[in-house]
Amino acid sequence: MSISHVVALGGSLLRPEEAQQRSRWFGLLRQMVVHLEGNGRRLGLVVGGGLPAREGIGLVKDLIEDRHRLDEIGIAGTRLNATVLQQLLQSIGCDVAPVVPTSVEQARSLMDRHNVVVMGGTVPGHTTDTVAVKLAAAVQARHCIIATNVAYVHSKDPRYHDDAEPFVSMTLDELGAITGVGVPLDPGASAVVDPMAVEAAMDASLDLAVLDGRDIARLEAAIDGQPFEGTLIRA
Ligand code: UTP
Repeated sequence: MSISHVVALGGSLLRPEEAQQRSRWFGLLRQMVVHLEGNGRRLGLVVGGGLPAREGIGLVKDLIEDRHRLDEIGIAGTRLNATVLQQLLQSIGCDVAPVVPTSVEQARSLMDRHNVVVMGGTVPGHTTDTVAVKLAAAVQARHCIIATNVAYVHSKDPRYHDDAEPFVSMTLDELGAITGVGVPLDPGASAVVDPMAVEAAMDASLDLAVLDGRDIARLEAAIDGQPFEGTLIRA
């Protein structure tokens, strides 16, 4: 059986400020996928909604009370970003599933038949972090990698606290004490790891790796099971 890896790719990674950096990041990601494919690995990429999700939700946030409806808008944003990557990888001949699956079960079954599966969100009530954790558990990946735009999990939000300390390693319980466990975020709200994903990782006894996905080398190291710059979270 091939070794399977699952990566949650934060939506913000698809849109660096500079167009030049954007092409470079897409190019390096593409190269990494070709390399993994060449080594007979399977890869599930679960892409976040980033700007389109937040923008869509923002348009009607004051007008719609039902949070599940806002979540559906967010999911549409994740699927747009997933389609961008799916088409990019297909265009260079990677064996990518021809559909963007709508459930973890469908993604798991597509991973039996294709080297790469790219998906976004599934149902309201959580973010793509949770989808990625569930897919990682379903395909028995070593861990679920959460590639975002911060380098480490910190003791506090480093954007607002100068004394926030980065963790190189920690346990899921310690992560849960920071993020909360099993409490859904507001539609479009972001956290270093979704509390619903922390709960799913606890349920599955699955390790997590949180790293800065702007640097593809860190992502490759984590996929290869090498020491990587970021936070390793043990179940
Ligand atoms: P994201 O997974 O993009 O959330 O989902 P995020 O944590 O903000 O990730 P980044 O910033 O892109 O990395 C965006 C929104 O889509 C809805 C939620 O409202 C979420 O906040 N969503 C997403 C769901 O309801 N279910 C899903 O499976 C995925």
